Amino acid sequence: MADIGDVSAGKVLVFTFTLPRACSKTDDKIGHDQGLAPVDIARAMATNGSKGKGGKLLILPGDHIGPEVVHEALKVLDIIEESTGAKFERDFDLCGGCSLDKHKDSVTEEVLKKSEEADAVFFGSAGGPEWGHSQPNPESGLLRIRLRMQIFANLRPCNFVSKSLMHRSPIKEEIIKGVDFMLIRENCGGAYYGNKIEEEDYGCDPWEYKRSEIERVVRVAGALAMQHDPPLPVWSADKANVLASSRVWRRITHEVFEKEFPKVTLKDQLADSLAMLLITKPTAFNGIIVTDNTFGDILSDESGGLTGSLGLLPSASLAGAPAAPGTEPTQGRNNAGGVRGLYEPVHGSAPDISGRGLANPAAQVLSLAMMLRYSFNMHREADIVEEAVAKVLDSKQDGGLEVRTGDLGGKAGSREMSEAIQGEVRRLLKG
Ligand code: NAD
Ligand code: IPM
Ligand code: MN
Repeated sequence: MADIGDVSAGKVLVFTFTLPRACSKTDDKIGHDQGLAPVDIARAMATNGSKGKGGKLLILPGDHIGPEVVHEALKVLDIIEESTGAKFERDFDLCGGCSLDKHKDSVTEEVLKKSEEADAVFFGSAGGPEWGHSQPNPESGLLRIRLRMQIFANLRPCNFVSKSLMHRSPIKEEIIKGVDFMLIRENCGGAYYGNKIEEEDYGCDPWEYKRSEIERVVRVAGALAMQHDPPLPVWSADKANVLASSRVWRRITHEVFEKEFPKVTLKDQLADSLAMLLITKPTAFNGIIVTDNTFGDILSDESGGLTGSLGLLPSASLAGAPAAPGTEPTQGRNNAGGVRGLYEPVHGSAPDISGRGLANPAAQVLSLAMMLRYSFNMHREADIVEEAVAKVLDSKQDGGLEVRTGDLGGKAGSREMSEAIQGEVRRLLKG
């Protein structure tokens, strides 16, 4: 059996192949078989809020700028280890083009197994033009890890980590000011997976969703909304006017919210008009947007456009809803007491700037903050990392250091910006 990786841009293949989905159409047991409670996740069991102690980390730097920014982000982790006594067992391995070069596969079975066993995976980025005709392609490694880890909820926040950077947005300040939403992208289904067909004159990606796949991801949206007082509003983005899978998505989402999250306001929004409204009225969506894999992929890159740099956007792909501070997750729990997850920037491997020390490390560092918070219960340290990044990016006028890479209009290289972040993290940890 071939898999999705056999699709490479510009290459015409004649065969069918499958990236197997988690279970068949009739098997509605995703989550339940894994001990996931189909209950209001917001009512997570309260614990004594034990402090994070670290855990088992699999690091997959990937290709091009991936290793460059991962290297810088790990220096921040070193500082956190020194200061808190937490210990992260670090295992480095390959995924993407680098794995293709060594193993002729975008990810090996050994790495897939290690991904399942780790408390968290810290991922750089995969891909590059040199593997343009490779079979499988580099990006398929990441897709296979997402599926194997069953990290079905991809959280992609859209906000300004530094208010001084608002002028970087191509959108007028009075329109973009205060934008703050969390996009939750379904990460293990839809058009990305299933029985694909690629022939010389025909291509097909089935776009399927089952009840269990929809329920588990929209529950994450409901649970996150309930962590705020009053609960955050939730928009569910679909194409229910055209796609059958979207109509099922919409119906099931309403069922879940009516039954399990009655206090949360749920609104539907067609994904195409949402793409337009995010430009004209982005703050109208402050709260949570939950949507399917393909729409989520596209809308989250739009977040990069809204904020003016992909280099600032982190993401977390989780096997359950993140627990509020002082509580434990009820699904997808890892051995560190957090949620199993993979953390990576929204941006890709940026081959156009790789190898020159120019990449902005902020999105990778902010992904580290998400990892500390969701997978290792290190909420204070996560807040500190975010505060440090903000201070480094803030303009001098706003009391910041104004150390910025080229993508943000500055002159700093990756290392200079990373060192500034490390300095701030050190300072804040002492405070
Ligand atoms: P990209 O995100 O790599 O780059 C888009 C633009 O943003 C480029 O001009 C790049 O220089 C710039 N950019 C991105 N990250 C930056 C950073 N940290 N600092 C400064 N500038 C940055 O998108 P692309 O060019 O469409 O894709 C390149 C490769 O990355 C492709 O092979 C694609 O499939 C892959 N990709 C991988 C991931 C992933 O591994 N998660 C995500 C997206 C794209
Ligand atoms: C992302 C990327 C990936 C995706 C690719 C590299 C497989 O674009 O993480 O957004 O489409 O999910
Ligand atoms: Mn993408």
